Amino acid sequence: MAELGPVAWPPAPLRTERLVLRASEARDRAAFIELFASPVVRTYLGGPRPRDELERAVPEVPGRRPGLFVIDRDGAMIGTVTLDRRDAGRPGHLRPDAGEAELGYMVLPEAWGRGYAAEACAAALGWFAEAFPGEPVVLCTQTANSRSMSLAARLGFTEVARFDEYGAEQWFGVRSSVAPPM
Ligand SMILES: CC(C)(COP(=O)(O)OP(=O)(O)OC[C@H]1O[C@@H](n2cnc3c(N)ncnc32)[C@H](O)[C@@H]1OP(=O)(O)O)[C@@H](O)C(=O)NCCC(=O)NCCS
Repeated sequence: MAELGPVAWPPAPLRTERLVLRASEARDRAAFIELFASPVVRTYLGGPRPRDELERAVPEVPGRRPGLFVIDRDGAMIGTVTLDRRDAGRPGHLRPDAGEAELGYMVLPEAWGRGYAAEACAAALGWFAEAFPGEPVVLCTQTANSRSMSLAARLGFTEVARFDEYGAEQWFGVRSSVAPPM
């Protein structure tokens, strides 16, 4: 995965009404493993990974990279919001050289249905807009992932294309004022 680009990292924690978005720490390791081992969280993301494999593979401080925010609610991690560069080899792009900024999100199921993902994503998008002024953000999600589709719409993403990948229909959207490609 390509680096997000020239940006000061980590930024000062982003505070929203109910959440803090911050860089990951060693105390978040168990929650990272939970996210990737959860059959519910991973339903539309290629399925869960075996817990024992994760226990071996996940580093002491997981997810330390520019653009990965831990969503912290009352001092505990409830999920992640990511802004990464979309791989050139995948379908779904806005520009020929690829590398668009792409939003991703995962929240532990016990924290669904309270608007936390929307609140966290809005803050991360605000941070991105300041760090990379004028740059659009893309998002790709399975059309069957209704919670993710609703969230994308709520955040202001609009459809650019649909295509099949990993044996499922994908929705590719953008959030910006720029026109989608022909
Ligand atoms: C995608 C995902 C983050 C969405 O989580 P979510 O909690 O449904 O999303 P939101 O934060 O937008 O919350 C919306 C829900 O909170 C409710 N809500 C309650 N209080 C709210 C508040 N104060 N503000 C906004 N919404 C609120 C909304 O009514 C809505 O409820 P509903 O689910 O009954 O319609 C979550 O399902 C997930 O982690 N999925 C697995 C990972 C995944 O598939 N990621 C996609 C990668 S592309």
